[in-house]
Amino acid sequence: MLHDLVIREALVIDGTGAEPFVADIAIDGDRVVRIGAVARSGHREIVASGAAASPGFIDVHTHDDRLALIAPAMEPKVSQGITTIVTGNCGISLSPRRWNGEPLAPLTLLGGERDFRYPTFSSYSAELRDRGCAVNVVPLVGHTALRASVLDDCGRHARPDEIRAMEALVDEAMAAGAIGLSSGVYYPPAAAASTDEIAPLLRRVALRSGIYATHIRDEGDGLMASLDEALDCARQGGVPLQISHLKCASPKVWGLSGKVLARIEREAATYPVGFDVYPYEASSTMLRPDRLADATRVMVSWSQPHPDKAGQDLAEIARCWCCSPEEAASRLSPGGGIYYKMQERDVRRILTHPMGMIGSDGLPHDTHPHPRLWGTFPRILGHYVRDLRLMPLVEAVRKMTSLPAAAFGLMDRGVLREGAFADISLFDPLKIADTATFEVPASPARGIDTVIANGEVVWALGRPTGRRPGRVLARAASRNLSPRPRRSSAVNAATAL
Ligand code: ZN
Ligand code: CU
Repeated sequence: MLHDLVIREALVIDGTGAEPFVADIAIDGDRVVRIGAVARSGHREIVASGAAASPGFIDVHTHDDRLALIAPAMEPKVSQGITTIVTGNCGISLSPRRWNGEPLAPLTLLGGERDFRYPTFSSYSAELRDRGCAVNVVPLVGHTALRASVLDDCGRHARPDEIRAMEALVDEAMAAGAIGLSSGVYYPPAAAASTDEIAPLLRRVALRSGIYATHIRDEGDGLMASLDEALDCARQGGVPLQISHLKCASPKVWGLSGKVLARIEREAATYPVGFDVYPYEASSTMLRPDRLADATRVMVSWSQPHPDKAGQDLAEIARCWCCSPEEAASRLSPGGGIYYKMQERDVRRILTHPMGMIGSDGLPHDTHPHPRLWGTFPRILGHYVRDLRLMPLVEAVRKMTSLPAAAFGLMDRGVLREGAFADISLFDPLKIADTATFEVPASPARGIDTVIANGEVVWALGRPTGRRPGRVLARAASRNLSPRPRRSSAVNAATAL
């Protein structure tokens, strides 16, 4: 009998950080059935001849909620070797939507009023399952979407009855397949929310062993205090914490990455804490006239009133319009920007930290997106690993595969071993390179040969195959923490892990 698919003579990088070895890989259905010498032939055979075979990469920080529905071939993802995405980050999710009219920024990053068409999380996840897409999807429900659905005015703290209404929406989302809750207290519509509002929602998440991912309040001046807030919130809710796109995002905190990482490490000794990072010195989000000061340069990534300005420098536009950059930013809003505000030294330190997972934070609907959308994973494997030798290849792959699979509880994913799901990325370590730049951002990587999700080829010969084997993945229920009282110093949560 033939195997469905056999990969011949691959350099197997199994995702655990172990030394690579050369072997054949046999796949039947959606699983890897043998790694070693494979005697039987396959219906289909791929000769890797020295190319690396690793688990498919897991992009733990995306805003692909809508992309997965409208562009199911997922080219920006599969072209990087990604086979699993976590959606709904930064408090921003496509559902539930219970408000009238245009969405509030930053929900606008996902689209306009017509795009938010899922009043319940189950209507969204059902659509995702029905349509299918090339990669596996791990959806978070966004706190900002909940606020916008329940509060008449997002500029204030939620009342007890509104918190109860949000709890019910969290219950509905978790029952419908959300893996946890995300928040973006950095952003205006969620900034008025304190721990007293978010922790009760997290306690609902904890009932279903979910996770909490957060874009912390302030990645600049208030970085340390914001980390404390996130940790306190997660502990009170009794859920594992994922700190989104960890960075030192203002000249005032440049050089602080060592201290930040030490703080997280200390915390991780007694509590499940993780973080993700992308390999660039510039961030990208909605245009915020009040937050321009921390950036040395701002580029417009999209603008609803002035679409032609996408890709241009904000300072340049302000000069043309004879106004301040702040004024220009408000005239360009709603819109998005790319902010140069990190220092390479910090980026590298965070990137190479053993706890650091990789999350692109790509914004797929921007007119002129940040290159991280197409370039994150190959940039690490090519530029940072091969060219700069910042860390070993097996370590970088571990941070893209087994580490996030463990943190997000994705069973039989993120490792290449017999019995695991056949999510596989075949790439040439000598050729892999990002080609997406700040000038030309939508450009597929070089050196990714074949990408397989659940046993089906989703990327080959430099293009997506259009297959849709991706599934909505659930979190393995292994880490149920008991909710903890405020600012308790007891650490018995560790025993529950
Ligand atoms: Zn964010
Ligand atoms: Cu984000």
